[in-house]
Amino acid sequence: MKVLVATQKPFAPAAVEGIKEIVEKAGHTFALLEKYAETAELLSAVSDADALIVRSDKVTAEVLDAARQLKIVVRAGAGYDNVDLEAATGHHIVVMNTPGQNSNAVAELAIAMMIYEARNCFTSGTGCEIMGKTLGLLAYGHIGRLVGLKAKALGMNVLAFARHKDKETLAADGVEKVDTVEELFKRSNFVSLHCPATAETKGAIGYDYLVSMPKGGCLINTARKEIIDEAGLAKALEDRVDLKYATDIAPDNLEELKAYGTRIWASSKKMGAQTAEANMNAGLAAARQITDWFATGNDQFQVNK
Ligand code: 3PG
Repeated sequence: MKVLVATQKPFAPAAVEGIKEIVEKAGHTFALLEKYAETAELLSAVSDADALIVRSDKVTAEVLDAARQLKIVVRAGAGYDNVDLEAATGHHIVVMNTPGQNSNAVAELAIAMMIYEARNCFTSGTGCEIMGKTLGLLAYGHIGRLVGLKAKALGMNVLAFARHKDKETLAADGVEKVDTVEELFKRSNFVSLHCPATAETKGAIGYDYLVSMPKGGCLINTARKEIIDEAGLAKALEDRVDLKYATDIAPDNLEELKAYGTRIWASSKKMGAQTAEANMNAGLAAARQITDWFATGNDQFQVNK
């Protein structure tokens, strides 16, 4: 079987080597397409691939149509909103993710962004400390939980809106469960987003939540830009001169938002999972999931069952 790694944003070289080794040891063929600029390059590379490993690369219906031999796609990472699940299912292609494998990297970045904004993007103005402040986590999956635990260690009070976790589970981590997103924003000096982009969450966070935050409130986004109502965000920043927004996924209206100086920060490219460790964990897990699925049919991480 031919296993193609197609990543616009490449994995660390050691992770690529590790993936290659797993694939070849299992008797398969390894192929690599990195830093491609045009979709046409991906369409051509997938045409004879049996398995595909991607990161945030868009696996659209067009890509799946072109991949005539494709049997399995593994998104090396958590969010699989970049894969057209319906089209994949239509082609009987298995889609998996590698949950938890890059969580620590994203969680560390969320904490770093919080401190960076608290210190005015490391400019000379007087900042604030995060110890004693309240952090609200929107969702409490692998990443949300790690951010919460790290924030607790830094002396923060941590709240979470966690639909699928009970109060006791959160309390065991020293985290308070809140019942509504309204309450989360109203009580939190910092809110960090850790939910996927779904029909329900797209455009869900905007003006009303932001302006309900305490003075100096700061929103941290290491999740997806689609969760933000960008017009609402811009209006909130305009109306409340104390609010801040730091994001790992540049918003479409970044140019407009740049007017707010250090109250806005956006990474130039999504950096959350961009550590050697996360690349290694997620990349190797993806390769193992593919070789295991070919060998045994193990579909534990399939998301389109
Ligand atoms: C994820 O969903 O796992 C993260 O957003 C990381 O995405 P990346 O692999 O494109 O950096």
